[in-house]
Amino acid sequence: MAHSLSRLLDAALDRSVVLGYTSIGSGVRRRLPHWPADPAPGSMAGRRVVVTGATSGIGEAMARSFLDLGATVHLLGRNPDKVADYARELRTQVPNADVVEEVCDVADLDAVRAWCADLAGRVPALHGLVHNAGAMPPERSESPQGHETTLACHVLGPHLMTSLLRDLLVAGPASVVWMSSGGMYGASLHAADADDLEFRRGEYDGVQAYARTKRMQVVLADAWAETLRGSGVLVESMHPGWATTPGVTSSLPRFDKLTRRVQRTPADGADTAVWLVATRPASGPHHFWHDRRQRPTTVGWQREEDPAMRARLLTYVAEQTGGAALS
Ligand SMILES: NC(=O)c1ccc[n+]([C@@H]2O[C@H](COP(=O)([O-])OP(=O)(O)OC[C@H]3O[C@@H](n4cnc5c(N)ncnc54)[C@H](OP(=O)(O)O)[C@@H]3O)[C@@H](O)[C@H]2O)c1
Repeated sequence: MAHSLSRLLDAALDRSVVLGYTSIGSGVRRRLPHWPADPAPGSMAGRRVVVTGATSGIGEAMARSFLDLGATVHLLGRNPDKVADYARELRTQVPNADVVEEVCDVADLDAVRAWCADLAGRVPALHGLVHNAGAMPPERSESPQGHETTLACHVLGPHLMTSLLRDLLVAGPASVVWMSSGGMYGASLHAADADDLEFRRGEYDGVQAYARTKRMQVVLADAWAETLRGSGVLVESMHPGWATTPGVTSSLPRFDKLTRRVQRTPADGADTAVWLVATRPASGPHHFWHDRRQRPTTVGWQREEDPAMRARLLTYVAEQTGGAALS
C-alpha cells in the first residue's frame, strides 16, 4: 500500500512538471519508500566510463559522482583547455582520481571517427558511456559535415560514437545513457517534418530544434536498446529535470531567472545517469527515465511516434553517419 501511494505521488509530481522537474520533485521522491537505493560505495571500482560534455554543468557533476564511486572516468570535451582544467581540479579534489582527458567535438563526424579509433587502441572495454554533450544555438549553424548543429551534436555524433564503440561496449558490458530533456515532451516527430530533419525549412527556432533532437535521442536510444538486447549492453535515455548550469543560464536567461530558486543542483540532474550506469536496473520499451524511474515518452494529447517517421529518422541517421542501421 505504502509503495502504491508513493508511486502515485511520484507520478503526480511528474505530471505537474513544475513540481516534478525542480529540486522539490527530487527532494520529495528521495523520501518516498520506492526510491531505489544509492549505488554502493566503491561499486564502480575497476569500471571505465566515458562522459561527453564533461566540461560544464551536469557533465562535470556526473564525472565527479562516477569518480566518487571509484570509476575510471574519461572526461570528454571539445575544448582541450577546459578538459585539462577540470581534470586538474578533479585530481586535486579526489584522492587517487583516475581521470583520462579526451578531446572530441561530438558534432564533427570525422573527429568522432578519429577519437573512437584512438580510444579502441587504448582501452579493452567500457562499462559506461553517457551521451551528455548538448547545446541550444540561437541561430541555425552547421557542423563541419554540413549538418545542423543540434542534430549533429545530439543525434548524429552520438549515434556514430555508439556504433564505433560497440565492441568496447559489449566487452564491458556497458550501460549507455542518452541525456535527453523534458523539453522533448513539447516536440513530436511529425511525418510533415520527414524531409526537414536538418531544420532548413522556414525560420529557424533554436528551442524547437533542441526539443526535436532531444525527442530523436529518445527514439534512437530505444532502437539501440532493442538492437543490443541480449548483448549485455543496456541502453537508456533520461531527462535531468531543471538543473542550474552554465548552459541554462546562457541559453535560457529568462527561464533561468524565473526558476532559479527551485532548480536542482547539477549533481541532482546527473543522479539518474550515474545510478543507471552503476546499478544497471532492468528496463522495458521506451527505456526513458527520470528520477530513477521509467517515465512515459508521451503525455496527454500526444500519440505514440509515427512508425514511418521513426523509420525515416533511423535510415537518415545511418546513411549520414555510416553507423549502425537500426530498426
Ligand atoms: N540543465 C538542465 O536543466 C537540462 C535540462 C534538460 C536537459 N539537459 C541536458 O543535459 C546535458 C548537459 O546540459 P548542461 O545544462 O550541463 O549544459 P552546459 O552547461 O551547456 O554543458 C554542456 C556540455 O556539453 C559540451 N558540448 C556542447 N557541444 C559539444 C560538442 N559538439 N562536442 C563536445 N562537447 C560539447 C559543452 O562543452 P563546452 O564547455 O565546450 O561548451 C559542455 O561541456 C545536455 O545534453 C542538455 O541538453 C539539461
